[in-house]
Amino acid sequence: MIMKRSRNLSLLVFVFFLVIVFVTFSVISVEARKNRIKKSKPHNKHHQKDKSGNGNTSNSPGPATAPLPHYGSNPIQSTIFDVLSFGAKGDGASDDSKALVAAWKAACKVNGATVKIPSQFKFLIKPITLQGPCMPSLVLQIDGTLLANPKVGSWSKSSLFQWINFKWVQNFTIQGTGVVDGQGYGWWSTSNQQMYHIQKKSKHIPYNKPTALRFYSSNDVTVRDIKITDSPQCHLKFDSSRGVKVDNITISSPESSPNTDGIHLQNTQDVEIHNSNIGSGDDCVSIQTGCSNIHIHHINCGPGHGISIGGLGKDKTIACVSNIIVEDISIQNSLTGVRIKTWQGGIGSVKNVSFSNIQVSDVKVPIMIDQHYCDKNLCKNQTGAVGISGVKYDRIIGTYSVQPIHLACSNEIPCTDVDLIDIQLKPSTGFGGFHQALCWNSYGKSQAPLLPSSIDYCLGKNGVPVKRNQVT
Ligand SMILES: *[C@@H]1O[C@H](CO)[C@@H](O)[C@H](O)[C@H]1NC(C)=O
Ligand SMILES: *[C@@H]1O[C@H](CO)[C@@H](O)[C@H](O)[C@H]1NC(C)=O
Ligand SMILES: *[C@@H]1O[C@H](CO)[C@@H](O)[C@H](O)[C@H]1NC(C)=O
Ligand SMILES: *[C@@H]1O[C@H](CO)[C@@H](O)[C@H](O)[C@H]1NC(C)=O
Ligand SMILES: *[C@@H]1O[C@H](CO)[C@@H](O)[C@H](O)[C@H]1NC(C)=O
Repeated sequence: MIMKRSRNLSLLVFVFFLVIVFVTFSVISVEARKNRIKKSKPHNKHHQKDKSGNGNTSNSPGPATAPLPHYGSNPIQSTIFDVLSFGAKGDGASDDSKALVAAWKAACKVNGATVKIPSQFKFLIKPITLQGPCMPSLVLQIDGTLLANPKVGSWSKSSLFQWINFKWVQNFTIQGTGVVDGQGYGWWSTSNQQMYHIQKKSKHIPYNKPTALRFYSSNDVTVRDIKITDSPQCHLKFDSSRGVKVDNITISSPESSPNTDGIHLQNTQDVEIHNSNIGSGDDCVSIQTGCSNIHIHHINCGPGHGISIGGLGKDKTIACVSNIIVEDISIQNSLTGVRIKTWQGGIGSVKNVSFSNIQVSDVKVPIMIDQHYCDKNLCKNQTGAVGISGVKYDRIIGTYSVQPIHLACSNEIPCTDVDLIDIQLKPSTGFGGFHQALCWNSYGKSQAPLLPSSIDYCLGKNGVPVKRNQVT
């Protein structure tokens, strides 16, 4: 009896306990749900701090201009992400890289956002990668100055490829009245051999010299209005990208700075580059393998090495370049005007290229095809070449200081459909070279007016080759 009653009692206690637990739990979960609903209302402060991406909640200035908390009807998001609000000092001496990356990461999540580099501030930036994919219509507004570290020894080995790397971005624009300054003079004066020795000693100095701005695997990008100066090496590079617009930019570095290409295109399609001023120590624009549908026009180029396709086919590699239009260009004080250069031994082709309305002034060799390109004193003779066909030169007018035309095609694979139309080239005042056109193993047609007149019988016609020594 006693046993039975006590069992009933304990059962009762147990049931009571269960009820208590159940009720408590439901209350808690209802509270929690309420809280969650509150939290998911637009951006409370905590959420925002996370967006700054630096994780420093203690004394961080925080993204003052990041999405503002708006309870009530329409939450309004600010779309301006000023680097100063992310802790940048802008004094040209403090390292502001983290602030820029944080501003980028926050802006990247917001549709139509702008990362702002305000005018009248200088931001010292270490090598960084600004990575996508981001929300559409992201803008990097550069009105101030971005400075690279001028001390060659401060660059880590892993950063040797570029200074600022845009990776996997799309529908993105860089614009503004500001300057991207590579402060590259330390690199220019260091020879490759010196660099090799310093690198071995410090394990720090890269053998390579970095590009200032590089786009990698990016689509629909625009770079406009900004100025890029004094890069350690190339100023603006597009690699494995599609849909590129460059408009109204200025690139400048000294004529004596080695390998400082203006714009370098590689594996990139659907490009328009226009309304820009480019002067440097190397090519104004360099078009490399894998490029197609490139339109370059209304460019002022010089000093430097002119506009070049290649060098292609180095170390017996395959190279393909096609559908290139270069027109309405002014080139002065440069090594070459419009040039195609390939190494011996390569495979592939250069097809459908048009150079028209090119004004040259004091250019050493305005028109050049060099299929024996070699950056050393002597390169091994090799068979095979990147074939060149369908190249039109139309209205190339102005002055040269070494030779008007130099078309040196491969011994084995001739250049075909090379057309020379309305070429008028006169020696410049500083002339010292050859007056006659040189064509080697190149075929096509020429059409008056042609100056010098040797252009008229330079190209081989109807399969009859014209050799160097036949040109009188
Ligand atoms: C957070 O910011 C404050 C002031 O800006 C700084 O003193 C502190 O070192 C920072 N802490 C971290 C972990 O970045
Ligand atoms: C981004 O997309 C919008 C809408 O399609 C377009 O108007 C704009 O030109 C694009 N911007 C870039 C840089 O491609
Ligand atoms: C070209 O860029 C400069 C800033 O570098 C700007 O002042 C000017 O308005 C731009 N021109 C055009 C036509 O957009
Ligand atoms: C040559 O290139 C131009 C410009 O990209 C293009 O419009 C044209 O269709 C190309 N011609 C051929 C025959 O591929
Ligand atoms: C390559 O061949 C040319 C003749 O076609 C010759 O003059 C030159 O010396 C050769 N160069 C080498 C490095 O063998």
